[in-house]
Amino acid sequence: MDEKTKFAHLGRPEPGLATAVNLSITRASTLLFNKAEDLYRHDIRAYGRHGSDVHDAVELAFNTLENGEGTSLTPSGFSACTLAILANVKAGDHILVTDSVYAPTRMFSEAFLTKFDIKAERYDPRIGASIESLFRDNTSVIISESPGSLTFEIQDLPAFVTAAKARDIVNIVDNTWSGGISYMPLDLGADISVHAATKYVGGHSDIMFGAVVSRTAKMAKKVADTRKALGFATSPDDAYQILRGFRSLHTRFEVQEKTGFNLASWLEKQGFVHSVLHPALPSHPDHELWKRDFKGGASLFGVILNPTSPEKVIAFMNNLKFFGLGFSYGGFESVAIHCDPQLNRKFGRKLPGPLIRFGCGLEDIEDLKSDISQASIHLS
Ligand SMILES: Cc1ncc(COP(=O)(O)O)c(C=O)c1O
Repeated sequence: MDEKTKFAHLGRPEPGLATAVNLSITRASTLLFNKAEDLYRHDIRAYGRHGSDVHDAVELAFNTLENGEGTSLTPSGFSACTLAILANVKAGDHILVTDSVYAPTRMFSEAFLTKFDIKAERYDPRIGASIESLFRDNTSVIISESPGSLTFEIQDLPAFVTAAKARDIVNIVDNTWSGGISYMPLDLGADISVHAATKYVGGHSDIMFGAVVSRTAKMAKKVADTRKALGFATSPDDAYQILRGFRSLHTRFEVQEKTGFNLASWLEKQGFVHSVLHPALPSHPDHELWKRDFKGGASLFGVILNPTSPEKVIAFMNNLKFFGLGFSYGGFESVAIHCDPQLNRKFGRKLPGPLIRFGCGLEDIEDLKSDISQASIHLS
């Protein structure tokens, strides 16, 4: 069955006599029992934090998306990243974090986890099988993100999986870039795939939500137990919007991916551009790895401008009309940020010019091209 068909139908109520197409939202903290002897049963939901039918449907959708055995839902994408890590570390551990990971995940690993005497070591995203040389007796987790935030390196996940297997090291992948559509880390052997559903799944830039999807039931239980211990919960209204997002996810993604690739290809030919960081372009240094491991692209990519002054970059940004200036991506509207203030690379080759990140929405490609063209006058 095609994915679009699958996601149009999963998690819906059984039709009866004039049944609604969609599940109902049950808002609850307290759940009432008519018999005291049922209050402490472990086989049923006893409290609002334990979820609802809509939450169950969202978990099913993530499991289906990623071929996972279990999903824990979280109040943001970032809390999904921290939950996945916390479920798999203990005091005194050593963890490996890609240099190109989402910045708050890097900060959590390098600063917050030191409270528990956990040491985070950054690795070059292009390290490949040599990751093994960084393993210590206490290494518990490898965190990767492919392509990496801002600099878009593709990581050799199958090499990481092979290296980690012998030592029982857990591979956690932040799979937000691909929306779970063009990259299947669990199929490649990762233990956990993390999503900021805030982006493509929500799709309308009006919701914060995250998911931790596990390849095995054992890992899913470990994550679920940690979620419970931390008290993370998501509201049924937010879960409902995420389920609604799933209905059109593949259709929106297809359009946005195409616009992203076409815009990236067009930008490569513009005089003010030094290079474009999009793994689906043959010019990308990791293009072969992308072809091997990915099913497609996405709408988010970077553009390195020819050297110019910071003032001209700001003028370019301020003159964009259809690209909103803002963090995040995956919504129906296009966005852009200038990245240099965020770059904090240990292994980065020095970039030859200022870096702009574009995220394409559902606008017409010709409008986006002419927007960039008119703003680019301010770069010369
Ligand atoms: C790759 C990646 N992971 C995680 C997050 C965090 O998601 P959220 O904003 O929902 O907390 C983001 C947000 O930009 C992201 O880009």
